[in-house]
Amino acid sequence: MNPSIPYEALNIAANTYGTPLYVYHGEKIESQYQNLLTHFSSKSTRFFYACKSLTNIHILNLVKNTGCNIDCSSINEVKLAMHVGYDVENILYTSNSVAFEEIKEAVSLGVHVNIDSLSNLEKFGAAFGGRYPVGIRIRPDVMAGGNLKISTGHDKSKFGIPYTEKETLKNIQKKFGINISALHIHTGSEIKDVAVFLQSATVFENLLPDFPTVNILDFGGGFKVPYMPEEKGTDIALLGAEVNKIMEKLSAMAGRNLTAWFEPGKYLVSEAGYFITQVNVLKKSGDIEFAGINSGLNHLIRPMFYDAYHHIVNSSAPNKELKKYAVVGNICETDTFAWDRPIASIEEGDYLVFFNAGAYGYEMSSNYNARYKPAQVLYKNGKATLISRADTFDDLLRLQTPLS
Ligand SMILES: Cc1ncc(COP(=O)(O)O)c(C=O)c1O
Repeated sequence: MNPSIPYEALNIAANTYGTPLYVYHGEKIESQYQNLLTHFSSKSTRFFYACKSLTNIHILNLVKNTGCNIDCSSINEVKLAMHVGYDVENILYTSNSVAFEEIKEAVSLGVHVNIDSLSNLEKFGAAFGGRYPVGIRIRPDVMAGGNLKISTGHDKSKFGIPYTEKETLKNIQKKFGINISALHIHTGSEIKDVAVFLQSATVFENLLPDFPTVNILDFGGGFKVPYMPEEKGTDIALLGAEVNKIMEKLSAMAGRNLTAWFEPGKYLVSEAGYFITQVNVLKKSGDIEFAGINSGLNHLIRPMFYDAYHHIVNSSAPNKELKKYAVVGNICETDTFAWDRPIASIEEGDYLVFFNAGAYGYEMSSNYNARYKPAQVLYKNGKATLISRADTFDDLLRLQTPLS
């Protein structure tokens, strides 16, 4: 896999800002968004960046400047979006298992809201009747996604209102006169197969006649991007062509113009991110050569949490002969990033760069083992700019009340 930022530039950023370090490539985020615009009808599609994947305000600002809307998973993400100047009309809040107070707050701010339980829908109806349009998250009972932990549409998933509850849903809608403006389905993450998105369209098609006020069909996020060498992502050209056709068909069937919404997270930022670490120790144990780095599951938890693959390159010496390594962290847990991984021969002090680190990398980081969160840098126009500093010892104490 070739990096979109040259290794020399990544190494310079590492020398300048220290490691571990997250680096994001601005132009890559922009080109991913442009690719979506190229293949989907501009008349009937809107994209909302699923900002749970990366919420640094400089990234949110960059995404806003591309013209992309924003999807939020918490009221604080909504507030971050407003902080960077997003218009409320361009903010979507997709709640799950939240206290109704949070939905009320989202309504008071004026953003689009998706509700994912009958319980909160009842409360919504009682509070707002038909005065505020609302989207309903449907669970389609479809198993899809890179692995079970990132599959959200199957019949044991906590997410959404099971589509089998259609009659109850209709009764609640009628009881309060709720204005259901959107149907939403997010089946999971890392969905390569275009057919899965088309399955959502079939569920929408079945529900549409019962919900005559709906004018938005929200297909969620989950486009797959390549994580491994030679791997293919979702065929965006094919998906766009199919969705454009389906939206025309469903609009004709419904007798009104329907708009497709999508909430890509990984697609926009995953490949734009590089996580640079440094090798602290090499340790041989039988056949195993451990490369112990100055990071761990506190900075990039995806390999341990989801068995996720992240491509790793020795950017200090990318052209040396390949040897196999177990790349492990410095946290007092079994934080293995990779087993038996061919990497150009490593010396202590070398930089190891993790690919696809833009989505759910820094965003899921923590201070576990009282270690510092890393700094973040935006690389744009060939220039690396610090967009958040690493923690300091004072940060570890900042929220704690002093000892008396
Ligand atoms: C409701 C919803 N929308 C969008 C996304 C973004 O998914 P991805 O980053 O795979 O595109 C998620 C991810 O969990 C989600 O839960």
